[in-house]
Formats: sequence, C-alpha cells, structure tokens
Amino acid sequence: MKKIAVLTSGGDAPGMNTTIRAVVRRGIFKGLEVYGIYNGYRGLIDGNFVSMNLGSVGDIIHRGGTILQSTRCEEFKTVEGQDKALTQLKEKGIDGLIVIGGDGTFKGAEQLTAQGFPTNGIPGTIDNDIAGTEYTIGFDTAVNTAVEAIDKIRDTAASHERTYVVEVMGRDAGNIALWAGMCAGAESIIIPEVDYDAENVVDRIKKGYERGKTHSIIVIAEGVGKGTEIGKVIKEKTGFDTKVTILGHIQRGGAPSAYDRMMSNQLGAKAVDLLIDGKKGVMVGLKNNQVINTPFKEVEKEKHKQMMDLSTYHLARSLSI
Ligand code: F6P
Repeated sequence: MKKIAVLTSGGDAPGMNTTIRAVVRRGIFKGLEVYGIYNGYRGLIDGNFVSMNLGSVGDIIHRGGTILQSTRCEEFKTVEGQDKALTQLKEKGIDGLIVIGGDGTFKGAEQLTAQGFPTNGIPGTIDNDIAGTEYTIGFDTAVNTAVEAIDKIRDTAASHERTYVVEVMGRDAGNIALWAGMCAGAESIIIPEVDYDAENVVDRIKKGYERGKTHSIIVIAEGVGKGTEIGKVIKEKTGFDTKVTILGHIQRGGAPSAYDRMMSNQLGAKAVDLLIDGKKGVMVGLKNNQVINTPFKEVEKEKHKQMMDLSTYHLARSLSI
C-alpha cells in the first residue's frame, strides 16, 4: 500500500476535520502518500482529488464541518457511477480508500470493496445510528449543543410558566433526543423507537403542574413527526401556554467536543493501520470502550434500530415523574 485517499460523505458532523487530520497524519507517519477527495462520492466520480501534506490539515483539529466538503450522491448508487469511481481511483494510482460518514456512506464503500477495491470506513454522523459501534463521531458534540440550548429554553420556560416542545435532529433515530432529553431533565422524550402516546405525554405534563411545576420540557426527535403538530395537541389538551422550538442544523456545527476529538484521532488512525495491515471492507468503531472493526454488511441503520437498548429511555422516564 503506497497511496491512500480519504473522503467525507453524507451529513457533516463535528469531528470530521479532526478525523481527516488523523488519517492524513497517520498515513504520512506510516510512509504513505495521502490524497483528499472533495465532495464525497461526487468528487470520487469526478476525479476531484488533491494531494495532502502535514500542513494541509494544520489548524483544523478544532473546527466543525469538513474541509473536504460533503454531499449525498445518487449517481454513486448505480453500477455506472461505481465504475467511474473505480476508474478514477485506478488512474490516480490509489491503493486504498477511507470513507467517513454514515450508513449510506458505508453502503457505497461495501460496493467498492465487493469490486475488489480496499476500502475502510469511519462512523461520522451526529445521529449515532450505526450498528457495529456504540459511538459515532459528532454525536457527543451534537448532544452537548442540544443540552445547552434546552437549558436556555428552560430558563425562559420557567419564567413564563410555559411548556416547550423542543425538536432535535435524528431522522431515523432517537439517540440525540434521548441523551439530550435525559441530560436536560425533560418531562417527556419522544423517539421513533417507542410508539408515541399523546395521552401519556399530556398526563405527565398535567401531573407536573398539579404538584407545583412551573414549566415542562418535551424533547422530540424529528423522525417522529412534526414538533409543531405535537405542540398544538399539547396546547389543546392541557390548555397551557405551549411553544415549539426546532433546534435544526445548529446541532451539526460547532467545534468538536474533547471526546469527539479523542475518538476521531483513535478511529482515524486505526482505519489507516487496518488498510496497511491488509484488513479491508470494515468500519472501525467503539464497543465496550475498545476500538473494534465490523464488516460493512453488518453496519446498516436498520440493525441499529433493532438493537437499541431502551433501558436509558425507561430510566429517563423514571427520573422525570
Ligand atoms: O446527519 C444526520 C442528519 O443531521 C439527521 O439527523 C437529519 O435528519 C439529516 O441529517 C438532515 O440532513 P440535511 O442536512 O441533508 O437536511
């Protein structure tokens, strides 16, 4: 293995830059030439490659976003798109590829591996919804962003005796809602993994007010449905002043937390080392605090859903009565 390339794909996540830095610097440290590919799989198809050196990744360890840019690329899902990508990799003399992203990113990487091109993956998504790892890069920062925002909302909620519905990100998974909701002491947490029961949410709010609470916070994952609709239902059924706040993409930006940076360094370096050792077609990840690797075919989002441990959800409910 002499030349490797790295790309970021799908929704960006805080820590992607730290990971790019780790891949580039570990690769160079191990005597490899490292290329960056701009715009994810789109750039791979178009041949948008750039040679990286130690300085290319200077001053990015703490920056949100991704200096390599990111896209979701439909063409790469086709055999023709994958053939174009393989031709580009061959023409540039690349021997191995590292992709940083989520579930969709690894589906693409699985195809490249199946066609004989050594590819490894690093989980980078704020949603933490990938089977084969207990952690994805960016999740910790996104949860901290959401908690900070909810703490602020709580201040004004208490001053005005209001109920707030706070919608957080997570198209298919409730991990951000669960962690942010629990850490911010939400009265109810609504996630796609558990059937939504409007009566129960309303009941908990009413009981809280009966015993003297001045406000309530309901955290909902975007994947469940519209926070605004749920806010309307709560207002109608409780008669309380109810507001809705959608946190949106602020959860995807910002400087990565120390934990995200630490894991970005560990996972980034490991993905390079595995390629050098001839191990390919795997996503590096974290299990029981150990860096492990899992074949791409075992990392789909659906599997993660089935595997979600709901004990944290039930604990949160028991603490917010
Ligand atoms: O990256 C994951 C995620 O942030 C989801 O939580 C969210 O539903 C989605 O991406 C939003 O994607 P986009 O920025 O393309 O609208």
